[in-house]
Amino acid sequence: MSEPKKLYIKTYGCQMNVYDSERMAEALGGKGYVETKTPDDADMILLNTCHIREKAAEKVYSELGRMKAFKVEKPDLKIGVAGCVAQAEGEEIMRRAPMVDLVVGPQSYHRLPAMDDAVQTGAKALDTDFPEDDKFATLKGRSKGKRAPTAFLTVQEGCDKFCAFCVVPYTRGSEVSRPADRIIREAQELVEAGVREITLLGQNVNAYHGHDGGLAGLIWELDKVDGLERIRFTTSHPNDMDDALIDAHGTCEKLMPYLHLPVQSGSNRILKAMNRKHTAEGYVRLIERIRAARPDLLLSGDFIVGFPGETEEDFEDTMQLVRDVHYGQAYSFKYSTRPGTPAAEKPQLPEDVMNDRLQRLQGLLREQQQATQASMIGREVKVLFEKAGREAGQMIGKSEYLHAVYAEAPADVLGTVRRVKIVDDSANSLKGQLIA
Ligand code: 5AD
Ligand code: SF4
Repeated sequence: MSEPKKLYIKTYGCQMNVYDSERMAEALGGKGYVETKTPDDADMILLNTCHIREKAAEKVYSELGRMKAFKVEKPDLKIGVAGCVAQAEGEEIMRRAPMVDLVVGPQSYHRLPAMDDAVQTGAKALDTDFPEDDKFATLKGRSKGKRAPTAFLTVQEGCDKFCAFCVVPYTRGSEVSRPADRIIREAQELVEAGVREITLLGQNVNAYHGHDGGLAGLIWELDKVDGLERIRFTTSHPNDMDDALIDAHGTCEKLMPYLHLPVQSGSNRILKAMNRKHTAEGYVRLIERIRAARPDLLLSGDFIVGFPGETEEDFEDTMQLVRDVHYGQAYSFKYSTRPGTPAAEKPQLPEDVMNDRLQRLQGLLREQQQATQASMIGREVKVLFEKAGREAGQMIGKSEYLHAVYAEAPADVLGTVRRVKIVDDSANSLKGQLIA
């Protein structure tokens, strides 16, 4: 028998790309590829790319530059670019990086097996369609091998919101929801393979409409899946947090008390210019309602500083919103021009102004994150153990609040949820003791 071909996938960007990479590996698995952890011995290298901010695409081009050396060593090696840079740049990638054999967008990777046939004959293959055929219907069920206790599951893709700064509506297309029955089946397959926690993914996941009851309806269906212990979802838009979903945070035990709900800015003037279609006050009220349903919820968010036209006063509104809301953790970014988006036409703020604001915001968010972590000391949490820790006898997992927690524990806690008392905190994790 011939040696299996080796596939190396490098994933950039969001969790949906992590999920897509798994599905691409499974699709190419049908062509005899097995995954390898290093590019050195690969027969195919796929870069699954992100286009959300400027540097991400540039990183891909420099990575492709480095990959060239592998192709000199091994002329049969095939190099592919997938994901949102592939979608946005298309043929331009092959022009800028001629050693690339294959370019595939996020909506067409179910066609990878046929594209592989083409590149094996020495041809180039490019597919950045938004095809009529649903890729998830074409892709087979999930692979049966044993899996880690926690997994991603894409339920919705694309976005119709058109925030003025964002490329997603262009790279991922308009909102599409997968039918609930297929998602349930996939969840069952994941649980059979050892998964205990599923994070439902979508660019605008709470706009999910593949179930009459929306995302909450889907969550309640998943609640019935035996063996599935935890449900999470990301990323959401404030305007799609409906009553049923807020209510589920208080009533569905499997739904974890963690919510990523980006606001982007605390200034109504900037929110309007961003085309966010919500106000700062509306967001704050919404958070109050969600916290009334689930008082211990850990809130996460996204912020952009230096959006075109942002004044010091606008920025101070963002700082004030952060002080008012209090985040358990959050992501913050300098505005980055995305060609083709409405905001790209506007005059940009000076780099030093953006840097200064980002530092101040990140300082405040860090303080809040540390305060939240410190407040966990002495508390009892439930940890889903995911893997062995760095030191012997140590296991690591996540609390219901998504804090990384490590504890002395026997190896058989792996894949189980255990009660843990938090005894200390460090920069990125909490130390716990197993409660017998
Ligand atoms: N510049 C900076 N940050 C951006 N994001 C999206 N587009 C841009 C951009 N052009 C951020 C938003 C979004 C997160 C995924 O990335 O905060 O919620
Ligand atoms: Fe982008 Fe999110 Fe706005 Fe959609 S809702 S355009 S994905 S920032």
